[in-house]
Amino acid sequence: PPRTEPMGLLAFLLAVRRNPLATWMEKHFEEPVVSGEGVLGRMTVVNDPAIIRHVLVDNAANYRKDDLQIRILAPGLGRGLLTAEGEEWRLQRRTLAPLFTPRAVAGFFPAMVEAADRLVRRWRRRPDGRVVDASLEMTRITLDVLERTIFTQGVARDPDALARAITRYFEGIGRVDPIDIFGWPDWVPRIGRLRARPAIRFFEELVDRLIEARKALIARGEPAPRDLLTLLLGAADPETGRGLSDEDVRSNIVTFIGAGHETTANALSWSLYLLSQDPRSRARIEEEVDRVLGDGPFAFHHLDRLVFTRAVIDEALRLYPPAPFLSRAAIADDRVGDVDIPAGSIVTVAPYVLHRHRRLWRDPDAFDPERFLPENRDRIDRFAYLPFGAGPRVCIGAAFALQEATVVLASVVRAARLDLVEGHEVRPLHRITLRPQGGLPMRLTHRRRE
Ligand code: HEM
Repeated sequence: PPRTEPMGLLAFLLAVRRNPLATWMEKHFEEPVVSGEGVLGRMTVVNDPAIIRHVLVDNAANYRKDDLQIRILAPGLGRGLLTAEGEEWRLQRRTLAPLFTPRAVAGFFPAMVEAADRLVRRWRRRPDGRVVDASLEMTRITLDVLERTIFTQGVARDPDALARAITRYFEGIGRVDPIDIFGWPDWVPRIGRLRARPAIRFFEELVDRLIEARKALIARGEPAPRDLLTLLLGAADPETGRGLSDEDVRSNIVTFIGAGHETTANALSWSLYLLSQDPRSRARIEEEVDRVLGDGPFAFHHLDRLVFTRAVIDEALRLYPPAPFLSRAAIADDRVGDVDIPAGSIVTVAPYVLHRHRRLWRDPDAFDPERFLPENRDRIDRFAYLPFGAGPRVCIGAAFALQEATVVLASVVRAARLDLVEGHEVRPLHRITLRPQGGLPMRLTHRRRE
């Protein structure tokens, strides 16, 4: 349960390092706006849908991503779409939009099914009762999907080699040094990152080699697979016709992997965990998946009929939003209702808090996928539910992630039932994304064997 008393500075800093979820207080879950002077200056936490809409959409031009966020993400992601600002961001967004249209995302469906089938085949070799770390397994599959959708096959002879390189890269890059929080200059060595340097270099060289190989293929006029890499190399700004620089291509590949793998993996892990705790929902999703998919191959037209499966994912994204915290810095003074937002101050929209807010949700902490069934969905305020953000900087990969999560969850539920290992306590840990602390050990029971 959240605290009612504020923390001292040292306790606050330690909590941010250990698990920032511990810094949220009871009042954040109850009041529409909480302002205060924090360690990093004035911060306003907003949980009022109208104010959120004002900040993220109507007056979005007055807000930029704050420096802290950029400092934490940019070393790993470069100036890709997630971290770019201003005109540079606008140009990239225009250029990259065609990569994530509904048609483009539908084109990635076969790769998603192949990755899910590979996971199910691997699990089939394990005996009933074997414990798997569901969180690790979901991370593996989202990396597999990204590998297939960005680079198609043939990256490496060992199918997990790229996944291993990526994991080590983000472990190195994702270590948040206190130095980053206070914004010391780049030449100050970051201990964590120095240690990770070989892994970082290995991955960057690997991506560069893949880009060069594809460019050579295209230059020779040979047919190139229609994956994200080919799309990136052919992308052009619709207004000027200019393409992306090599640097932009590389930054955005790393950005898609960085923004798309752990987030989607966590959405899946939390879905599996929540289902394991709720026999009724589990029976219902099993019934739906068996009825819709049967024993045959997974086809694109099945997606629309997996209504409850999708509601489970939406509800998991509500209770455990993989991106639990969004923040912006005000450029000029702003005022919404009776709330003053001075220039330079930080406005925080925390989906983790918003999605459990007492004023916005009935029984906010309960897992109830029915909230998201099509007949009930209209009752949810668009700005009370923001797993993918909103406004011009809304997640460009949302449709990709939801399609992938539906394919993987339905495939996993059809193949096996997963039960949390007895005695394992599950707690959300906020480390850029919201993940189950210490993994998710689950016992596998096969539901069907071929
Ligand atoms: C932005 C969440 C999957 C690529 C965002 C934002 C959120 C988010 C909340 C907005 C951040 C802000 O406004 O400050 C998620 C969640 C995912 C997911 C919860 C999975 C369940 C993906 C995938 C990709 C992706 C699969 C790419 C393949 C991006 C990019 C941005 C972004 C490039 C920056 C967009 C911009 O600033 O124009 N994501 N994301 N995300 N996401 Fe996702």
